[in-house]
Amino acid sequence: MALYSDKVMDHFRNPRNLGIIENADGIGEVGNAKCGDIMKIYLKIDNDIITDVKFETFGCGSAIASSSMATELIKGKPISEALDLTNKAVAEALDGLPKIKMHCSVLAEEAIKKAIEDYYEKKNEKL
Ligand code: FES
Repeated sequence: MALYSDKVMDHFRNPRNLGIIENADGIGEVGNAKCGDIMKIYLKIDNDIITDVKFETFGCGSAIASSSMATELIKGKPISEALDLTNKAVAEALDGLPKIKMHCSVLAEEAIKKAIEDYYEKKNEKL
């Protein structure tokens, strides 16, 4: 059996929502101390809905596929749903990740949560 599912390979080769958002409403950057990989998520939020999301990932193929899938899963969704997104759900949507690569999907969950935190911090600053 192939180590990576077709979906992982597809999202790795053709990442969705790759890039940055100028004037993002929330930005979350996280890193994995062990492998040194870094993931950055940019959010545009309107009325509690994630209207746009982009990512930059300096890391392994699983991290790139996880960020790509995670952005697809939260685009157009309310903040509450994005906060509920687990790394397990990201991995499942990719038809699974090898066990030793599960930690790569954790970066996506953490980066989204951090970007939403940043959004709320910025919003409070403006109030
Ligand atoms: Fe570092 Fe995948 S090996 S995120």
